[in-house]
Amino acid sequence: MNTPIDVFSEWAQNGKDEGMERHHYQSVMNMINFASSKLSKYSFIDAGCGNGWVIRKVTEDPKCSKAIGVDGSKNMIDKAKRLDVKNKYYCEDLLTWMPNEKADIIHSMEVFYYFENPGNLIKHINNNWIKIGGRLIMGIDFYMENKTSHSWQKECGISIMKLYSEIEWKNFFKNAGLSKVESWRHGESKDWGGTLIVTGVH
Ligand SMILES: C[S@@+](CC[C@H](N)C(=O)[O-])C[C@H]1O[C@@H](n2cnc3c(N)ncnc32)[C@H](O)[C@@H]1O
Repeated sequence: MNTPIDVFSEWAQNGKDEGMERHHYQSVMNMINFASSKLSKYSFIDAGCGNGWVIRKVTEDPKCSKAIGVDGSKNMIDKAKRLDVKNKYYCEDLLTWMPNEKADIIHSMEVFYYFENPGNLIKHINNNWIKIGGRLIMGIDFYMENKTSHSWQKECGISIMKLYSEIEWKNFFKNAGLSKVESWRHGESKDWGGTLIVTGVH
């Protein structure tokens, strides 16, 4: 078993990171549209940005005034910086990193279950990253109700992957102090639960 950071650093080298963009694209667009559609202008942080594809995409929106990507894998961040010299990327552990300025939207796709205690990460983000009235929005495909995903930890050989139900994820958000917490699934089909999206307001 390897740490999440080691596994994704290898993915950045062997090109598997590009598959994540293809697979996560529709869910991420659903999340960004939900979070940004009522705003006239917004700043944005991608927590666990991988190769930075979401930052490159969101900054095509003229309403996005600033976007920052943070990831613990140096290979991912080096690749993000190679592909995009306009925006800022930081190689940091999400549990300790703090932005210089809080943002309107904190987005994260397929990242929060790589933490031993996701509740601590969500609290840290709520306390230190989000403006008053701003939003945290998270998407995950690995969760209790999505049975197809349960084999992934073994298949990928990743040391930490925490399996929780939709209600447990919503409780992490509520217990962190977020309000108006809601959730939905995007892209469900016969043998696929869809991306579980959970969001709340600071
Ligand atoms: C499944 S990938 C998703 C990447 C990106 N969000 C996407 O959709 O393409 C998970 C990412 O979380 C990052 N990650 C895992 N644990 C982390 C930690 N403790 N601090 C920062 N990043 C972390 C990994 O390096 C990896 O890039």
